[in-house]
Amino acid sequence: MKIKLTGLLLCGMLIAAAFSSAHAQTQPSKPARPAAGVKTTDQQIEAKIQALMKQLTLEEKISLLHANSIFGAGGIERLGIPQIMTDDGPLGVREDVKEGWGSANLTTDSATFFPNGSAIAATWNPDLAYRYGHDMAEEARARGKNVMLAPAFNICRVPLCGRTYEYYSEDPWLNAKLAVQSVKGIQSQHVAACVKHFAVNNQEINRGRISVDVDERTLREIYLPAFKAAITEGEAWTIMSAYNKLRGTYCSENDYLLNKILKGEWKFKGMVISDWGGTHSTVKAANNGLDLEMGSVPPYKNYYFADKLLDSVKAHNVEMDVIDEKVHRILWVLLHTDMSEKLPAGKINTPAHSKTVYDIESEAIVLLKNDKNLLPLKTSTIKALAVIGDNATQTFHAGGFGAGVKARYEITALQGLQNRLGTKVEIKYAQGYSGEYRPFGKNQRTENAKPDTALISAAVAAAKSSDMAIVFIGGNREYESESRDRKSLILPFSEQYLVDTVTAVNPNTIVVVVGGAPYDIGKIKKNNHTIVWSWYNGSENGNALADVLLGKVNPSGKLPFTFPADLKDSPAIALNAYPGENLEEEYKEGILVGYRWFDTKKIEPLYCFGYGLSYTTFKYAGLVTDKKMYKPTESIKITLKVKNSGKYAGKETVQLYVSKLESAVQRAEKELKAFKKVNIPVGQTATVSFILPAKNLAYFDAQNSKWVVEPGKYKVLAGTSSRDITQSAEVTVL
Ligand code: BGC
Repeated sequence: MKIKLTGLLLCGMLIAAAFSSAHAQTQPSKPARPAAGVKTTDQQIEAKIQALMKQLTLEEKISLLHANSIFGAGGIERLGIPQIMTDDGPLGVREDVKEGWGSANLTTDSATFFPNGSAIAATWNPDLAYRYGHDMAEEARARGKNVMLAPAFNICRVPLCGRTYEYYSEDPWLNAKLAVQSVKGIQSQHVAACVKHFAVNNQEINRGRISVDVDERTLREIYLPAFKAAITEGEAWTIMSAYNKLRGTYCSENDYLLNKILKGEWKFKGMVISDWGGTHSTVKAANNGLDLEMGSVPPYKNYYFADKLLDSVKAHNVEMDVIDEKVHRILWVLLHTDMSEKLPAGKINTPAHSKTVYDIESEAIVLLKNDKNLLPLKTSTIKALAVIGDNATQTFHAGGFGAGVKARYEITALQGLQNRLGTKVEIKYAQGYSGEYRPFGKNQRTENAKPDTALISAAVAAAKSSDMAIVFIGGNREYESESRDRKSLILPFSEQYLVDTVTAVNPNTIVVVVGGAPYDIGKIKKNNHTIVWSWYNGSENGNALADVLLGKVNPSGKLPFTFPADLKDSPAIALNAYPGENLEEEYKEGILVGYRWFDTKKIEPLYCFGYGLSYTTFKYAGLVTDKKMYKPTESIKITLKVKNSGKYAGKETVQLYVSKLESAVQRAEKELKAFKKVNIPVGQTATVSFILPAKNLAYFDAQNSKWVVEPGKYKVLAGTSSRDITQSAEVTVL
């Protein structure tokens, strides 16, 4: 039941002062707030929590701990405690649904479609991650949601994982820097971020039952750092436990993950929310750290944290202080969100939000190859342009099993080119292939669909009669989806055939691949001279893409994960450590995830982590450190010069890696430790500095359960990608 609040309902002077507007949907009138400018202190929040706790009955407390609708929970009308109103995230505030997940058919729930996680990661720009969070949360506030189920940043361990597009990257440092900012952005609007999925939810196959066996060092160095940063630096107010098990125990009832690490070591004050339907017990989950059970299948009174929890408390299997702690956490989150002072009203679908989306897209698109300098397009020499491929007219805001957005608008690639080119150039569109993907049922159509001869002929005709062709291929939101992994990296829907056929009749063919995860584009890399990588880019997709192709925007995206030349090269596949056997999966590759594996094992990838070209060129020079020797408590100051030596102003992401020389323990050949994106005008040189605390060079000593900075020599490496390192210096840590 949704709660309507009025000031009169509020009980007690102290409490009355605390409440501000609950989500717009459920609370038309706004109760009294403290005078503007008065900031609630931690002590005041604590006093309010205590005052409320005293008035809650046991039954009311239990009612706060489980779902009462697909996205809602709790709410105590007599005390003016608003509901927890969650919503997905991460692509924007999803449309409202009714029981059974059908559309609520509202006309008020369209929203801005924000770029997917790997697109945000490809910007390597934490400021954009902040703006993403900030703007999405403004929309959440306007739509009456107080918890955004975002960001999602599990590590991209296997390129096949169906949610790679939602997640960020294969690198814990890059993930951490972006996650912290998106959390801060979301929470700036008094909307709680819900960081997910905690932890090691790195595949969709058997995600609800698989048990991950990962060694402690790897857990700490690869899979937990971004969560730790989101909690301790980003101060995320909520976190979602993952569906899978860690070392035999479901993450939603995992004492080690939830009580020891999250609430103990990281001092997390907020609430742990289960993934939907991801709770498996009452007593164990309650005692081991879960705070709120969510799910989408009524009746909600049958939930583990409903009547069964009440009975368990009465039977003393769950102590009252365990319940009180959970209620405390939930009220604490509400006092930072709907019950906080000075709540912003929220904004939806604003031009500023579109601008954020456009800016992210502009910095996310990756130029993979430009051997003939066909890009940026020289429109004065193009009379007719063939635009070919289903992905030129596809939208990506919805589809598949995962969360989507009812986008107020989404500019397709074709519309973007039409918008920008007007009548200057004749555009000839041909679909080329169909991206329809229906994996199940009688009307099944899989990724192996054969070329459609009529579509191919039309594409060939368009390409032949044009000066240039742009072929848009790749994945789509049906094909890359939550709840399933891809079976291979092969381009689906006979797209390779389309590219080959079109290229054969028009050598001036540019290939634009749209996807959220690596694909096998080895043949295209070999045979085609111009390749652009684009993403599930958001509402402004086509405009940003057109501006990159036309040179209004100089591309600056860098790949957030390795593209293997062969799937078999990627670590989990090479070691036969995916998708697990008998619902158990050992992460045999240990710390050697992504480029750490490829570099250490000297395997040439198709495209390496951090790779991405520009229309200009950058020359690196003069890397120096402020000293040669450092105590483990000191920081290494690194400075280098980057010159824009080409013809276009451009942004460059300077990447800083570190190698440990002669380590006593296994080390990856190099690890990303810092990065900075700089805008450099033509001919100018930027001085780029990094402050690298020596403590960040530590490895996790599992035996003694502590981070250890190994004394000895380290190499500091700077470059334009993980494999194009041109600057280095050696330092010693004492
Ligand atoms: C997903 C979560 C999502 C939840 C609610 C689950 O299937 O794993 O990421 O937030 O559904 O839609």
